[in-house]
Amino acid sequence: MSATADVCVVIPAAGLGERLGLAQPKAFVGINNWSLLSLTIKRVLEIQRVGHLIIAVPADFKNEALDHIDRAMRESNKKIPVDVVAGGITRTESVKNSLLALDQLDSYVLVHDAARPFVPAEVFNSVINKLDQGFKVVVPVIPVSDTIKTVNEKDEVINTLDRSQLKAVQTPQGFARDVLSEIYATSNLKPTTDDAGLAEIAGINVSTINGSVESFKITTPFDLEMATSFMNRKQNGK
Ligand code: C5P
Repeated sequence: MSATADVCVVIPAAGLGERLGLAQPKAFVGINNWSLLSLTIKRVLEIQRVGHLIIAVPADFKNEALDHIDRAMRESNKKIPVDVVAGGITRTESVKNSLLALDQLDSYVLVHDAARPFVPAEVFNSVINKLDQGFKVVVPVIPVSDTIKTVNEKDEVINTLDRSQLKAVQTPQGFARDVLSEIYATSNLKPTTDDAGLAEIAGINVSTINGSVESFKITTPFDLEMATSFMNRKQNGK
């Protein structure tokens, strides 16, 4: 491993994926014979600076996860240290448990959802470049194409938000290691849907880079169908 392999990637993969409606947890669902987890690991292994992986999975899937990790590493022809930890009830708890496995050598931590297997390598590298420039928290964003309205519990529209100021936020979300450890060390940790949300609560500046439409998150059966077509199209070189 190179001396500069100082980036740790945390992969929260402990969600049950109830909206997919399948028997196994979402990260273990397959597309063309590859689980979302192994596809995500293969992508992460393409990033040279990554020297450590921490993966949070449902407690009773730790052994199965090792098989998926092995397969991804054999296919990538790259082996780096991996810690597999038991996730929690919320994503926030899964990331918190993962951070207990951080190593002294990890300067930056990038948290990336197992449910976004097609994230381009350039997005990882852009996050790392911005951290290299001294930014402490960096997230990929893309413009929103729909008009966004807030709606009350009676299904009535309250107002329309100014779309020019709205962005959809993706992963990998990058952090200077100490900043991430500190925001997750708070005792009354409030579950958030992303990690940068905790930095915002702590009053820490969050910077952005351009994300990618290819980093779409697989949540519903329709997303899984889209993911399969997308993978087939890429394999055919289109
Ligand atoms: O549920 P959602 O799609 O937002 O989850 C995003 C990522 O967080 C997924 O990769 C999922 O496996 C992970 N997660 C987790 N622990 C949970 C819930 C979600 O690691 N308790």
